[in-house]
Amino acid sequence: MSAVTAAHAPALTVADPTFGDDWWQRGVVYQVYPRSLQDTDGDGVGDLPGITRRLEHLRDLGVDAVWLSPIYPSPGLDVGYDVADHSAVDPTYGTMADFDALVAAAHGMGLRVILDLVMNHTSDQHRWFTESRRSRTGEYADWYIWRDPSGVDRRGRPRPPNDWQSFFGGPAWTWEPAREQFYMHTFLVQQPELNWRSPAVRDAQMTMIRGWLDRGVDGFRLDVFNAFFKHADLPDNPPIRDPRRWHGRGAYFRQEHLYDKDQPELHDWLREFRAVVDERPGRMTVGEQFSGTGVTGALPFVEPRHLVFDFRTIETPWSAAAWAESQRVQDQGYVGDTWPTLVLSNHDRSRQVTRLREGRHVRGLDQDALAKAAAVLLLASRGTPFLYYGEEIGLGDSAIPRRDIVDPPARQSLLQRLWAPWWNRDQCRGPMPWTGGTGRGFTTGRPWLPFASDSGTRNVAGQDGDPRSVLATYRALLALRRASPALHVGASAPVAEGPDVYAWRREHDGEVFLCAVNFTDRETAFTLPGTGGEGRAWQVRYDSVDPVRTEPLPAPGSVAMRPLEALVLEPR
Ligand code: NOJ
Repeated sequence: MSAVTAAHAPALTVADPTFGDDWWQRGVVYQVYPRSLQDTDGDGVGDLPGITRRLEHLRDLGVDAVWLSPIYPSPGLDVGYDVADHSAVDPTYGTMADFDALVAAAHGMGLRVILDLVMNHTSDQHRWFTESRRSRTGEYADWYIWRDPSGVDRRGRPRPPNDWQSFFGGPAWTWEPAREQFYMHTFLVQQPELNWRSPAVRDAQMTMIRGWLDRGVDGFRLDVFNAFFKHADLPDNPPIRDPRRWHGRGAYFRQEHLYDKDQPELHDWLREFRAVVDERPGRMTVGEQFSGTGVTGALPFVEPRHLVFDFRTIETPWSAAAWAESQRVQDQGYVGDTWPTLVLSNHDRSRQVTRLREGRHVRGLDQDALAKAAAVLLLASRGTPFLYYGEEIGLGDSAIPRRDIVDPPARQSLLQRLWAPWWNRDQCRGPMPWTGGTGRGFTTGRPWLPFASDSGTRNVAGQDGDPRSVLATYRALLALRRASPALHVGASAPVAEGPDVYAWRREHDGEVFLCAVNFTDRETAFTLPGTGGEGRAWQVRYDSVDPVRTEPLPAPGSVAMRPLEALVLEPR
């Protein structure tokens, strides 16, 4: 194989056996925040026809699937994660015909489509809830988690059933005068929690899921799936008394969440859900572990074709030792039928180049160099990578003054002085800059959020064709990964674990790669191990500093790694 440059492999069609039913394990998923990829009607908000228009970019990038954050009708209080109808498309984004066109176009290019299912809660505007809150009797009466008060307080007001708290601040219970009962909500008051113990709720949700599968959807991301079940008796969560163990600001983070998530009933539910999804072959799912306990908490809920976001990688700081530890935890945890996810950014967290540059460990790193080195960690490690739109051009956060925040939970957390972790998620949701011109090729109108400040120069058109760009790095690494089973399904083992360099080996069926990242902004000597083959040197397959480097590297032998240089090597 020759050194990989910006050239990229032709896309496969969905039916192509190369990435058959196990594409969820071999492939790479690209997350689109629909409001921010491409606007086609000038309202400043991205839409489905816009996503369809940009599918060629995704095909040329070399990803395998596109995950759409919620596209359903929503009052927008949690910017789409408060769903008013799970079976329809929000008119802001287009029509069901636009959705069908998107799926057909994606499939024609070999791209799968994954929908974001928000099934822990609905919007309070969902018909199920407007019916349910009306009275204690009726078809929808028990579709949400309703409870009588536990008593009255000193002023005679009803007291919530237990001590549970909302993740977004305040109690997890809100009083409904019409029923004279409380309803539960882990998130906003306007996001009432569904009662998954009701067979009618289960049936309605499975019907909705089948409906999307019938439309050709290839998989689902499950929002906060480990919160679907609460303990049937709703006991109090024990308080965490030691402030050193508080895991955030606010009452939610001062409790052990023993009873409001991670309940054993989830296992049966997952089996039932997977059986429905498995009615069609090759469909994948990934569950978001909410407020979880990392890899340990995720493992019991990982199954073939069902992954879990444990967020280990998104929470790892920019340090060779920390990455080595993260990979060790993942490699040792996800064995047998289980398989890890790799995530550096999403719609809830600061984008990686912003977050990692501001980290405790090193500050002020070069944005492009950091983006490329991080790309090697993401795309050459063991697991299924999930890329967040804009990551492929090294996009950072948009600067949004506190007074201009759009994200309601972030505004609420600001008012309640709970300024973490729901701080200004708008920053990572800025529109995609396609060109350097007015509206950045994203919109002809006023964008709903500001672009990143450097979008005049950091945009897709500006990087396209430049072999040294972040975009070329992503294309090259995705092509190399696609062509190399060792990089997608291979075993992984550490070779160097810091303090400056983290290096690891990938291997499958005789194919071997050595990957190394210099985490420092200094030149650093690194000793390359032998290749395992008598007299064989290392051949550079990818070098983040010099993408056209071809000279062999000694094996064993010392190599001077340049600041933030990342290498992918193969025995010659
Ligand atoms: C997790 C989602 O990622 C986040 O954006 C949302 O606010 C909460 N779930 C509630 O749905």
